[in-house]
Amino acid sequence: LLQPVILSGGSGTRLWPLSREKHPKQLLALIGEETMLQATATRVRDFSGSIGVAQKMIVVCNEEYRFITAEQLRVAGFTDCSLLLEPTGRNTAPALTLAALSAVSNAEDAVLLVMPADHVINDKQGFHLAIQQGLQQAMDGAMVTFGIVPDRPETGYGYIQTGDALPGTAVLELQAFVEKPVLEVAQQYLDGGRHLWNSGIFMMRATTWLKAIAHFHPAMYAACQQAMDKASIDCDFVRVDKEAFLSCPSDSIDYAVMEKLARDQDLNIPGYVVPFNAGWSDVGAWDAVWQVSEKDASGNTVHGDVLLEDSRNCLVISDSRLVACLGLEDVIVVETPDAVLVTNKANTQNIKRVVTRLKDEN
Ligand code: GDD
Ligand code: MG
Repeated sequence: LLQPVILSGGSGTRLWPLSREKHPKQLLALIGEETMLQATATRVRDFSGSIGVAQKMIVVCNEEYRFITAEQLRVAGFTDCSLLLEPTGRNTAPALTLAALSAVSNAEDAVLLVMPADHVINDKQGFHLAIQQGLQQAMDGAMVTFGIVPDRPETGYGYIQTGDALPGTAVLELQAFVEKPVLEVAQQYLDGGRHLWNSGIFMMRATTWLKAIAHFHPAMYAACQQAMDKASIDCDFVRVDKEAFLSCPSDSIDYAVMEKLARDQDLNIPGYVVPFNAGWSDVGAWDAVWQVSEKDASGNTVHGDVLLEDSRNCLVISDSRLVACLGLEDVIVVETPDAVLVTNKANTQNIKRVVTRLKDEN
């Protein structure tokens, strides 16, 4: 069985002022009608590969967002989800460990399809094909990643050094994994042509992940196990034990396991990467939202009550008032009841600076 696991714990400060601590990116409908969480769930609902997909999704999120998360999933048609609630974020490695423990407790060693809740994938068929291509390796006990051909020396991503293709398949050996390299290194990888970006989507058996985490991070494994053993069940919510989870070290899947995997002789879990290009974007900032959105003939994307004249390649979002723009090019405008952002597209990566200042000054 293919078991979808959705990691829904981030905040996405670069999408201020729509994305806030109280209203994180994955719960917003930034592109189209569905929220990013809903789009993530519906993306795999009708996967029809060589194994079936579990209808009961595992979603790991913060306790604070349990109702809105459950409600959004219900509206999208997922009435039977397993929501694992974290009292606080400990990054993605513990979140996945909780999900894996929950999956093995169902007595079936499912193949987990681990998906961030805040990505866009425009080509669903292409995504399904990539899953199917890597399935055999995941079933055989490997760690499978999905790689994107890089087009810039982005330092916010993981880089996967690719090796030979498995005979007769599209699957490449994973030779090394480097999470968030510095700019010079990222540039080398880009120039060398042997690296792919890590998309942040992973596939492996639940037991494969647990074996890796027990090997590299026994304390994390123990804390998560305790947090699940002592979890309290309330309807569809699984509230993990607070004390145990607070004692869990914080780390990401990438640093905690992926970087170490290829270098470790004892563990013997092979890594693979399935190259895929299915209109993937992690929609990190407003320029990326514009990039993946549908545009009119002048390259503009508008949401809400917006009047545009003589403007090109703009993204204008109005939440509560009429927004009129005249003679703009490459500009982003995001209007909300208590804050309005106006910025040049080239500067959207720096919005963190605004958010940091707001925090400092309040
Ligand atoms: N449940 C839960 N708990 N989810 C979490 C937590 C947590 O503590 N922390 C993060 N997440 C979720 C986020 O909501 C997001 O959907 C996903 O896990 C990945 O976390 P990010 O914080 O967005 O990671 P990143 O973007 O810095 O890096 C990852 O993604 C890149 C591609 O977008 C890495 O996997 C990189 O290697 C990769 O290139
Ligand atoms: Mg991310």
